[in-house]
Amino acid sequence: MKRISLSRYLVEQQRVDGRIPPQLRLLLEVVARACKHISHSVNKGALGDVLGTASSENVQGEVQKKLDIIANEVLIEANEWGGHLAAMASEEMEGIYVVPNRYPQGEYLLLFDPLDGSSNIDVNVSIGTIFSVLKMPEGDRGVDEGDFLQAGKQQVAAGYCVYGPQTTLVLTVGDGVAMFTLDREQGSFVLVQENVQIPADTKEFAINMSNMRHWDAPVKRYVDECLAGKEGPRGKDFNMRWIASMVADVHRILTRGGIFMYPWDKREPEKPGKLRLMYEANPMGWLVEQAGGAATNGRERILDIQPTKLHERVSVILGSKNEVERVTRYHLDPSSPA
Ligand code: AHG
Ligand code: MN
Ligand code: MN
Repeated sequence: MKRISLSRYLVEQQRVDGRIPPQLRLLLEVVARACKHISHSVNKGALGDVLGTASSENVQGEVQKKLDIIANEVLIEANEWGGHLAAMASEEMEGIYVVPNRYPQGEYLLLFDPLDGSSNIDVNVSIGTIFSVLKMPEGDRGVDEGDFLQAGKQQVAAGYCVYGPQTTLVLTVGDGVAMFTLDREQGSFVLVQENVQIPADTKEFAINMSNMRHWDAPVKRYVDECLAGKEGPRGKDFNMRWIASMVADVHRILTRGGIFMYPWDKREPEKPGKLRLMYEANPMGWLVEQAGGAATNGRERILDIQPTKLHERVSVILGSKNEVERVTRYHLDPSSPA
């Protein structure tokens, strides 16, 4: 079998099809290198003194794990001198990080959730890094937070790297989804699947069921109908999975289909959801759409949402198209039949 490395894949995307400019290719190479570095730290675990909690909180008031901070630093350092970026934003940093002393200013903005699935770090369950790339607005001189507030449909690249039994980087530049697994002996990511497709139908749902009593009626209805199985309105039995790492749940959905939901609930009614629009929902939403699936907040397409702040939260429903459309329909028209 001919092995195609991520570098070669990106060069082909640039040269053969002109799908990505050279600067974006170089940026994606740097992000992949940072993910490889994070993967090594994750692998060392207790031996590398990377487990456990740091004594700090992030901007959302969440306790930071040592690996949250390490992964954030790796991504900042890797990209600081690359020359393709104007600025970065991270779930773990309050404000944006402007790339210093660059003239001319880099063309791109990088956003990331450095370590997704923090509660799984110490228990040796899959975690990951999620990233999204935007272009600096045309003619903009001097970068500020407002430049990041672009809808998800403006992304020019998005992906994640899952640190599981294998380390796999999943990427879209707007021409389908490709997967690359890290070959540790060679030190490079190797293409393992191109043109990833999510089946439109599924019998598998993912939601944190412990929040059931807090859900909104349309979500409760959807899950109740799944739980009713063969005898219920859906006429088939469903299976459930919840890994509590969005990367790992989305990776399963890209591999074999399914629906993932982290909906708004009554615990903190003023918050639109738990997950973050810019670091989680947008990149994952675009990957899922690029693989033939759908992503909404229950009412509208995630990628159409105009962000109003960097750390904005959102309700997320994504995965197999027909299921996502069903849950969205239950929100928009509660009296519609199953
Ligand atoms: P993070 O570790 O970046 O804060 O994200 C965790 C997210 C997401 O990965 C996962 O789907 C969800 O939180 C799990 O939440 P619960 O613990 O409420 O199930
Ligand atoms: Mn996360
Ligand atoms: Mn995180």
